Parts: sequence; C-alpha cells; structure tokens
Amino acid sequence: MRGLHRHDAGQGRVGALSNTLEDFVIDYRLQGRTAIVTGGVSGIGLAVAEYLAASGASISVWDLKQDAVEQTAAQLRRRGIQAIGIALDVSDADAVEAAVQRTVEALGGVHVAVNNAGISGPAVSSGDHPLDAWKRVIDVNLTSVFLCQRAQIQAMRAAGGGSIINMASILGQVGYQGSAAYTAAKHGVVGLTQTAAWEHAADGIRVNAVGPGFIDTPLLQSMPAKARATLESRHALKRLGTAEEVAALVAWLASDAASFATGAYYPIDGGYLAV
Ligand SMILES: NC(=O)c1ccc[n+]([C@@H]2O[C@H](COP(=O)([O-])OP(=O)(O)OC[C@H]3O[C@@H](n4cnc5c(N)ncnc54)[C@H](O)[C@@H]3O)[C@@H](O)[C@H]2O)c1
Repeated sequence: MRGLHRHDAGQGRVGALSNTLEDFVIDYRLQGRTAIVTGGVSGIGLAVAEYLAASGASISVWDLKQDAVEQTAAQLRRRGIQAIGIALDVSDADAVEAAVQRTVEALGGVHVAVNNAGISGPAVSSGDHPLDAWKRVIDVNLTSVFLCQRAQIQAMRAAGGGSIINMASILGQVGYQGSAAYTAAKHGVVGLTQTAAWEHAADGIRVNAVGPGFIDTPLLQSMPAKARATLESRHALKRLGTAEEVAALVAWLASDAASFATGAYYPIDGGYLAV
C-alpha cells in the first residue's frame, strides 16, 4: 500500500506526506473545495487523494469496502484534513447519486471529481472474450464514469462550477492485444470526456481525461518479472510510472492553474505513445 498507509505503519510519521510525494508536491490551493476520488484507497486513487489533500481539499473517498474507505478517510482526518469514506460500487446508479448527496451534506459541495475506479478484465482475445466479463469491464470502467460524472455535474452546477478528471489510459488511444473490453471502455471514457466538456463549459465545469502509461500499482504487482520487463521496455523512459507522477497531473487539472484546460486527453505515459 502506498503513501499514508506505508509511512504510518513503518515510520510513525503521521502528519507528513509520503517520501515519494513530498519530493515534488506543489500546493495547488484547493482550500475550501471538496474532491471526490473514486477507487481512492489504492494505487493511483490513493496518491490522488493524498495530493489533493496536500493542496488543501476536503476529500470524499469512494471505494468498494467500508473498512478500507474508513481507514483512508481516518488517516486523512488525523492530518487535519476533512474527509469521509463512502463504500459503494461505482456502477450502481442509485449508490452513486446517494454518495454525491452525502458528500454535499458532509463536506459542503462538490468542486473536484476524479473518476478513477477501474478493473483490468480477463486477458483473452476479442474472438474469445466472454460476454459477462465484457459487460462487467464496461460497467465498471465506462458506465460508472457516465454515472459518476452525471451526478457530480448536478452538484457542481449548484456549487457554481468545478473540475472533473476521468481516468483513461494509453489504452484510450491505441489498441492492446488481449484487452478488448478494457480498451473499448477507455476509448469510451475519452469520448465521454470530450462531449461533456462541450456540454458543460457554460456551467463553469471543466472535464478532462488523463491517460497513464503502465503504472506500478497493485493492479500490476502480481505480474511475472518477464512480463513487467517487457512492459517497461515499451516506454521511452524504460520504466513503469508511479502513482504519484499521475497524481501530480491530476492535481494540476483539478486546480485553477488549469483554467484553460478542458475536453482534452492528457497522456502521462513515459513516452509510450510517442512512437
Ligand atoms: N496501473 C496502471 O498501469 C494503469 C494504467 C492506465 C490506467 N489505469 C487506470 O487507473 C485507475 C486506477 O488503477 P490502479 O492501477 O490504481 O488500480 P488499483 O487496483 O490499485 O485501484 C483501483 C481501485 O478501484 C477500486 N474499484 C474497483 N472496482 C470498483 C467498483 N466497482 N466500485 C468502486 N471502486 C472500485 C478498487 O477497489 C481499487 O481500490 C483505473 O481506472 C485503471 O484502469 C491504471
């Protein structure tokens, strides 16, 4: 587990940022704003929650398990940050609506939303892909972004505007063998982002997509060493990225420093797409 959990357990440094994050964290002045982070207890989502909190935002952490969201929110609160944890499945429309409502009631509005929760799906070719697995990956990786974004837009309108960041992937731009549903979902996230940006610019809402290359998170950590080395070689920088490097881009997009950025796909991929 990254960041909060790691240094709390190992070094007793409650109140400090993680070693990696504090090397480059920039204060994006998010004081007085509330950020929702889905998939916020692990990997990229946890690093994003930490980075936004370090910039002063209150945090609503959404993820599948009650104990995990409560643990992450409690660790943020111990650092003086307002935070709540909400357990839900982001592909459940009613649960998403209720979670936005609870966030508004507890933290005073929604100003930033990072729709990051995702799953990988089975490594099978398009010709062999089971339908139930296809539907689950599309539900969790694409329909959830539509549902979360829809509910967040309502709350952001009431707040006078906001910034939505949807987690796509390099696989939102190119294909990848054995990843049909994931690749289709991430391409869909980019299209949804571009469309919403045009539709809600007049509401003061910016909507952008972030496209990480392969990032060293729990999603990839069970991978055999040989497969990992192959993945590393596909990036110009010859390594995987870190969750904190993705979080730094997300925090910029969340902030007023990115006030002219909307409707765009932002790669953060160590040069993966630059071939
Ligand atoms: N790790 C990578 O290489 C990589 C690359 C590009 C894009 N991404 C994307 O970044 C996002 C985060 O990935 P990660 O690598 O940090 O993975 P991760 O597995 O560490 O974290 C994903 C989180 O999402 C949560 N989640 C999954 N399904 C959910 C659901 N139905 N409802 C609520 N929460 C749910 C999980 O419990 C987990 O905490 C995903 O959208 C992923 O597709 C990851």
